[in-house]
Amino acid sequence: MRLKITVLPGDGVGPEVTSEAVRVLRAVSDLNGYDFQFDEHPIGGEAIHRHGTPLPAATLEACLQSDAVLLGAVGTPAFDSLPREQKPEAGLLHLRRSLGCYANLRPAVAHDPLLENSPLKAEVVRGTDLLIVRELLGGIYFGEPRGLDPGRDAFNTMRYSAHEIERITHMAFQLARARRRKVTSVDKANVLETSQLWRDVVTRVAQEYPNVKLEHMYVDSCSMRLVTDPTHFDVVLTENLFGDILSDEAAVISGSLGMLASASVGGKVDLYEPVHGSAPDIAGRNLANPLGAIASAAMLLRHTAKLEEDAQDVEAAIARVLRDGYRTADLARGGTRFTVTTSEMGSLVENALADVTQQRHAYHAV
Ligand code: NAD
Ligand code: IPM
Ligand code: MN
Repeated sequence: MRLKITVLPGDGVGPEVTSEAVRVLRAVSDLNGYDFQFDEHPIGGEAIHRHGTPLPAATLEACLQSDAVLLGAVGTPAFDSLPREQKPEAGLLHLRRSLGCYANLRPAVAHDPLLENSPLKAEVVRGTDLLIVRELLGGIYFGEPRGLDPGRDAFNTMRYSAHEIERITHMAFQLARARRRKVTSVDKANVLETSQLWRDVVTRVAQEYPNVKLEHMYVDSCSMRLVTDPTHFDVVLTENLFGDILSDEAAVISGSLGMLASASVGGKVDLYEPVHGSAPDIAGRNLANPLGAIASAAMLLRHTAKLEEDAQDVEAAIARVLRDGYRTADLARGGTRFTVTTSEMGSLVENALADVTQQRHAYHAV
């Protein structure tokens, strides 16, 4: 098994969490005799510093030539006042569009050892296992026309074609078929034309999946339901901006934004990144939680490499470290047994992975 992975550490805590994800992927490669190759390139603020642009041509070319891309985060307060298309975030949006990955999969799971970490009551979050399927290349993020007359006037366009809605709907229903076979489509069809089209197209495509249940929910109502009754959801299908907002909200289910992973698929090359940003408030201090980045690496093994067993090994290693009581600062509470740094957490997962993988190999050998 050979994999060429382009690593884009990016800004803030990005480099800290990606190096732990790479450490775990290297361990998967070594333990199983695979050949994973890693090639690092700048993106975001880091790329602006070094090359004057948030997505240098060489970075994009390397991504397009690889099997998968693993990204940390982009965004630096120093560049917040640049014009939109020169900001670090523009580099990430340009990358997503160039790769063509229109489907952003963002799972939110309540891990039993972290139930008390959620600000929600344990009995509310227990058992939650949902997947947000966010449309990633359309809507108000990319709609034209758009413009800003500073201090006076600004406008954006929310726009969707039926084709864009169809392909993300197929993706959501195919994923739901392998889960609990329920899709909640989230829109604002009582106000927006784009949502009216969204609802019509989703309803039509759903007829091709008679074994999957479809329900429609308004986004305002969904944002409330996510935190009052999260076990209600299986697959949540939604447009770009709603998905951005709902996925950060869903982090309260997992106990910390640092836990959430994502995969952006459907294009030429798949892109994997934690849901969180560059966290400038804790950057450079070895404090960030690398588990979202490591879980994104597990998604890479599952979706791009089709190494389901190895993906499960990484997830089992994460679960074991949490069960053993290790927590990064974002998850530490009164009763926390061991508070650890970013790199300590990565090394704990690496050690647990060696155990889990060896047990699996021994089991297969008998
Ligand atoms: P953020 O996700 O960076 O941080 C929000 C809060 O969560 C902060 O308190 C932060 O300390 C905490 N946090 C985030 N990740 C964590 C981790 N791994 N471990 C522990 N705590 C963590 O969001 P923000 O502060 O709104 O944005 C900061 C910058 O990141 C902005 O420039 C924004 O545009 C960018 N951003 C980038 C991405 C991305 O690259 N995919 C995603 C979101 C935000
Ligand atoms: C995310 C981020 C990005 C988004 C930003 C940094 C462009 O918030 O991945 O959730 O809005 O998609
Ligand atoms: Mn976001």
